[in-house]
Amino acid sequence: MAENLFIPGGNKEEKYQSLLPQLEALLDSEAGFIANAANFSAALHLTFRHLWTGFYMVKDDELVLGPFQGPIACTRIGYGKGVCGTAWKEGRTITVHDVNEFPGHIACSSLSRSEIVVPVFRCGVHENASEAEIIAVLDIDSASVGTFDETDKKFLEKICSLLA
Ligand code: SME
Repeated sequence: MAENLFIPGGNKEEKYQSLLPQLEALLDSEAGFIANAANFSAALHLTFRHLWTGFYMVKDDELVLGPFQGPIACTRIGYGKGVCGTAWKEGRTITVHDVNEFPGHIACSSLSRSEIVVPVFRCGVHENASEAEIIAVLDIDSASVGTFDETDKKFLEKICSLLA
């Protein structure tokens, strides 16, 4: 397996473009979801250095904290609660420009200012989301307002589809 992560310079798009094949290479040698989610969160965190990067896993009627990088975080989030639980319930990526403007945002860290949450579907399917099973969500928090945009959404959805 790849032991070293090459962290490129450049703009956001260029960083994602460089990261994608490296994440695909990680999957070649490991089929376990937790192991791959752990390496994906580390690779994303080292590349972008946001405040918090990690996964919550669907377990019964809750999300349970999974592999992550960053400060300690809330361990359980209910269906439809916070940004993570809402992304799970609605089966879609949610980009929050300013967490203070998202009713019900769960502040695991008072430093968090913006956030993106991307569902991980079992088969990597994003169409017919209501029929596809969500097994986890990827959550990334930033200490700045307005960090995440359509470029993050596009690439993070691709990254989550690799994991499924
Ligand atoms: N802010 C998230 C909770 C998870 S932490 O940010 C890591 C939410 O509102 O769902």
